[in-house]
Amino acid sequence: MSLDDATRDRFAATAERLAALAEQRIEGIRARMVELLEPRGDEIVLDAATGTGSYAIALAPLVRDVIAIDSVPEMLEEGRRLAGELPNVTFIEGSVYDLPVDDATIDIATIARTLHHLDRPGAALDELARILKPGGRLMVIDQLVSENEREAELYERIERMRDASHVRTLPDSSLRALIDASGLRLTRATSEPEERDLERFLELAGCTDAQRTEIFAYARELVDSGESAGVDLRVAGDGFRFTGRVGCYVAQR
Ligand SMILES: C[S@@+](CC[C@H](N)C(=O)[O-])C[C@H]1O[C@@H](n2cnc3c(N)ncnc32)[C@H](O)[C@@H]1O
Repeated sequence: MSLDDATRDRFAATAERLAALAEQRIEGIRARMVELLEPRGDEIVLDAATGTGSYAIALAPLVRDVIAIDSVPEMLEEGRRLAGELPNVTFIEGSVYDLPVDDATIDIATIARTLHHLDRPGAALDELARILKPGGRLMVIDQLVSENEREAELYERIERMRDASHVRTLPDSSLRALIDASGLRLTRATSEPEERDLERFLELAGCTDAQRTEIFAYARELVDSGESAGVDLRVAGDGFRFTGRVGCYVAQR
């Protein structure tokens, strides 16, 4: 199956549950966007791989216009529903590699929790850099893996078993290098822990019982052999918990 097909299948199947999660997160994301990006109110924003629109909808009341792009129609449909009467968000089907806007026309570009689904994350960042006005800003948010290759690989096995549209989670150093290679200047980088319940994490990706059984057996093996996969994987009640890390980067053209 091609990556595009895997992405379409995975997100079409889980669009409704991801929209429910997005709805709970919008207020918190909005507060974070105010703090991180300090919008003036007159910006044109493009949110690439918007999914069900959590970042686009969070930003809309803070800026002039938001263009929200995603390749999966079911996700866009949920985004339009969540946006309701918001007058300044437009959801468009499209690819992060070929954004439907001219060079140097966007004040703020965002891409959240998506680079790990892309086989060419550097090309996506180049495309986002292309559309930014001089002085425009890019915000990248994504989960991170350990800088230790072995720990990263142990964790990545869980991601690959969970989701056929997963490609590769990057460590902080690789993400910084890609931003640098896109010609943008990093102005801010932070990361924070994200607490996860494994069962819920699998549910969000629409895992089958067979996938769950396989991943739980793998988690048990890791814990029994004293491996925490760089995410402090641990037993909690009948299941497992782990502490991921989410990086947030702002870079300027
Ligand atoms: C984990 S979701 C993140 C959605 C949203 N940014 C958020 O943080 O809630 C990843 C999204 O990337 C989209 N996506 C993956 N590959 C894409 C591509 N090549 N072009 C456009 N969208 C893509 C998927 O359809 C999905 O909606």
